[in-house]
Amino acid sequence: MPVIVNEKSRLFIIETDNSEYQLMADEYGVLRHLWYGEKVGMSMEYLCEYPDVGFSGNIYEAGNRRNYSLDTLPLEYSCAGIGDYRISAVSAVHSNGSCALDLRYTGYKITDGKYSIEGLPAVYADSSEAQTLEIYLKDTASDITVTLKYGVLPKLDIITRSAVIENKGESSVFLTNAASLCLDLPRGYDEWIHFHGRHTMERIAERLPLAHGIQESSSCRGTSSHQQNPSIILCNKECTETNGNCIGAMLMYSGSFSAKVEYDQLDQTRLVMGINPELFRWELKSGEKFCTPEAVVSFSANGFERLSHNFHKTIREHICRGKYKLAERPVLINNWEATYFDFDEKKILKIAAQAAQLGVDLLVLDDGWFGKRNDDCSGLGDWFVNTDKLHGGLGTLAEKIKALGMKFGLWFEPEMVSEDSELYRAHPEWAIHIPDRKPNRSRFQLLLDMTRADVRQYLYEMISSILKSADISYIKWDMNRSICDWYSACLESGKMGEMPHRYVLGLYELLERLTHDFPDVLFEGCSGGGGRFDAGMLYYCPQIWCSDDTDAVERTTIQYGTSFFYPISAVGSHVSAVPNHQTGRVTPLETRAVTAMAGSFGYELDLNTLSESEKQQVKNQILRFKKDGQLIHNGLYYRLSNPITDKLAAWEFVSNDGKEALVNGVVFHTEPNHTRYRIKLRGLMPEANYRLAESGESYTGRALMNGGLLLPKTWGDYAPIELHFTAET
Ligand code: GLA
Repeated sequence: MPVIVNEKSRLFIIETDNSEYQLMADEYGVLRHLWYGEKVGMSMEYLCEYPDVGFSGNIYEAGNRRNYSLDTLPLEYSCAGIGDYRISAVSAVHSNGSCALDLRYTGYKITDGKYSIEGLPAVYADSSEAQTLEIYLKDTASDITVTLKYGVLPKLDIITRSAVIENKGESSVFLTNAASLCLDLPRGYDEWIHFHGRHTMERIAERLPLAHGIQESSSCRGTSSHQQNPSIILCNKECTETNGNCIGAMLMYSGSFSAKVEYDQLDQTRLVMGINPELFRWELKSGEKFCTPEAVVSFSANGFERLSHNFHKTIREHICRGKYKLAERPVLINNWEATYFDFDEKKILKIAAQAAQLGVDLLVLDDGWFGKRNDDCSGLGDWFVNTDKLHGGLGTLAEKIKALGMKFGLWFEPEMVSEDSELYRAHPEWAIHIPDRKPNRSRFQLLLDMTRADVRQYLYEMISSILKSADISYIKWDMNRSICDWYSACLESGKMGEMPHRYVLGLYELLERLTHDFPDVLFEGCSGGGGRFDAGMLYYCPQIWCSDDTDAVERTTIQYGTSFFYPISAVGSHVSAVPNHQTGRVTPLETRAVTAMAGSFGYELDLNTLSESEKQQVKNQILRFKKDGQLIHNGLYYRLSNPITDKLAAWEFVSNDGKEALVNGVVFHTEPNHTRYRIKLRGLMPEANYRLAESGESYTGRALMNGGLLLPKTWGDYAPIELHFTAET
């Protein structure tokens, strides 16, 4: 059993196959964190230090024990206002205006299986795969209780965290902070990696030493954002892909979040992760409870590679749901970069016919098929077909696409409304704005108030009637702006601080309804590319358009950062035209293909514009993806280089039985008279002989992993790397 309790010492040990987590309720009922790391097989209480640090006060019951301070001890769920001056996980304002919480242990419960969270996405697992530990806490001076939930998936070395805060008192309290995870680590965690960026350049991995004080990765944009991702890694200086201790933490949430790391006065590290407390104020009336989103953590003693494998498998098998979670994904053609808004049925059918001939499975009709939408200034919200562009409507178009042997998919941006739209003219009150203030426009559009049930019902009806009106197999769910002007006519004034979270809950409710009612439709998430690329969205959409940057070279950096937490199958990635529309860069077609194949693969250009030999190349690429797709999506993924610092990008997929390996990548820059690049493979069977398809040569796994392989000399920049190894039996 993964959870072991010593009732007498009130010690809780959570064991996974390769990690151990310990917490303990001490003599004062304070819930203390003892350990998260390699398996140790004994209580780590002996490591607790009790330094008498000036200006770190003592709880009253400690009497004259000046060395017992909440400000120095590793704690399990830190509270604001009672003498722990580090970042806190929870704070509440009581009816008398005070804002302190002093949570003490009252009990525990262990159940088989994994808990779920009402209205929020959460890791799922059955009782043979997981156990749940609940720890009960109560405030010393009020009737606020907190249940800390731990979901344990031992085989995956995964622990999930979530908290339920309940007001069992008479009067309302206001939560101003309710984190999902607080993790106090021993000394030795002195670096962190966060994933920052911007539109068209998301999730750039940045590894930094921890500075004393607080560092934060966060979003207050109402979405998880392009700018920072709700996932971070804590590690030590020595940690590499294959060696060293590291901890990954990811929030399963698509709204504003905060991940704060404090490196304290004693060089201890505290991580607090959850909903961003900025703009958060949640009223808990008598008898009400608040559930935090879920944080997912994993420990690896073998570097980042193992950590990524744990998260990839968890997301694919315990977060993504539905028909497509493990299924082969269709190779798609999207018309956006081929036509932008300028299309009609004829143009789309021409693109489709060519794509079908080359083996593409699905045509996705992007923005512009509905309402009055000839540019991005109008039409959002009017989810009915524009018959000026598509004379016969969607049904006819879908049938014609089907006759070509392809499936049909459609773009939506449900959460938005254009001021120039029938919807806005009928329901201006549905657009988020503050009375007496002009709303902030972004891409000339406003947001619908997703906290309103009538808005969600309208969207459900519009989208489901479109889905029923034609044979539609796929939806791209886009979201092209950040959120501000938080105000809802449906919320009392004292509850406006609830709106950002209620927006996310509303979005999840609508997605749950639609994905449940249309189980055969593949949903792909999107937010100007990867502005809402998070595990919350992956619960509803097994793939997300990774970035609006389709440049193969830039994509190596974006996809490198994305790969630390998110599996390859989740990464929407397309071959587009050259010169690239975002950078003007020209890269070989094959390079664009290998980069796009490190994802859920597709094309985003008019294939009619290619030469005959390029068309043949596309045909072969699609065949290759169909052959290697399972290896790419279900195999183990290895980062063989760091494209931010190295002269090449290289990555590898190895089948779960170790018998097949595919190495792909891009050599950025070819130099004259240069020695050849060498890359070392990973994850092979040391004793097996592997045959390289491209040359017919054989190598032992040990040779390839220790000595590596010399890459062929390149000619021209951005040359693709393609090496396919199969174990000889
Ligand atoms: C966003 C998406 C693009 C495309 C456009 C359409 O930017 O990321 O892929 O769908 O919207 O407006």
